[in-house]
Amino acid sequence: MPIEKVGVVGCGLMGSGIAQVAAQGGYPVVVREVSEQLVEKGLKSIEKNLGRLVEKGTMSAPDRDQVRGRLRGTTNLDDLKGCDLIVEAIIEQLPAKRELWSALDKLCPKSTIFASNTSSLSITEMATFTQRPDRFLGLHFFNPVPVMKLVEVIRTIATDPKVYDDALAFGAKLGKTPVRTTDRTGFIVNRLLVPYILDAVRALEEGVGSIEDIDNSMKLGCGHPMGPLTLLDFVGLDTTYYIANIMFDEFKEKRFAPPPLLKRMVLAGWHGRKTGRGFYDYTDPAKPMPMRLS
Ligand SMILES: NC(=O)c1ccc[n+]([C@@H]2O[C@H](COP(=O)([O-])OP(=O)(O)OC[C@H]3O[C@@H](n4cnc5c(N)ncnc54)[C@H](O)[C@@H]3O)[C@@H](O)[C@H]2O)c1
Repeated sequence: MPIEKVGVVGCGLMGSGIAQVAAQGGYPVVVREVSEQLVEKGLKSIEKNLGRLVEKGTMSAPDRDQVRGRLRGTTNLDDLKGCDLIVEAIIEQLPAKRELWSALDKLCPKSTIFASNTSSLSITEMATFTQRPDRFLGLHFFNPVPVMKLVEVIRTIATDPKVYDDALAFGAKLGKTPVRTTDRTGFIVNRLLVPYILDAVRALEEGVGSIEDIDNSMKLGCGHPMGPLTLLDFVGLDTTYYIANIMFDEFKEKRFAPPPLLKRMVLAGWHGRKTGRGFYDYTDPAKPMPMRLS
């Protein structure tokens, strides 16, 4: 059965981006949040993004209106009943996802495909909350969704190959480059990125270089758009710490273990840009200053 209508659950940072690119890809989209206020906030952020595209001349005003016309916000789970594909982008907590998937499983026809945007939880485990493990997979988008070209498409040992192909085609229709991967915590990107970032913290701990020198080395020596400690401040130290712990738990390998300095900074509430302090001080966001950490 072709994917004709898309449901998105959660209209936060990721859900709003996913709803936007799905509507831009031509799909009618229903996006569900837990309150009217959050529905409105999510849709406003999409409108703002679309407005920017019109200002830049990459989208015409009539196209923007058509995209906006394909999006509908709701607080009612029942409104997702008619969707052929539902992408979940709610908080990264298994009990919340369990409750959602088992409710959706009862509500939706057997043909509906379920996809999670989780960064670290097991797709296989989530599939067990439903009676349709063959129609369950991962669609892992990147932040900001309208800008980042990649989507990791994750199959479990139970995912039907035809459903997997439909999900790959869906990713391509959204203008993304879908990559195939399997249900191992971290998938491809975080499997490679997380140990690299953690190693940068370890290098700092061991006095290999200062915050600025570590960041400049990877920018100027390897052509990375930003250094690993700046990147960590962007992603959030708390989020990275959480993901590293899950990956360490899965693989029991030292390279995934969060270094003590990272743990101390998370405990101190220095979570990066969003809290104003991480490896840099963002009192003046235009001019981040390296922190003194020893
Ligand atoms: N932030 C990132 O860079 C990133 C990247 C890739 C994947 N992810 C994953 O995407 C998911 C969402 O992350 P986010 O950063 O958008 O979080 P977020 O906090 O910005 O948004 C989550 C939203 O889900 C809503 N929500 C919670 N329970 C709900 C429910 N039952 N029904 C509808 N809405 C509900 C919340 O109100 C909130 O607005 C997580 O699984 C996360 O691991 C995040």
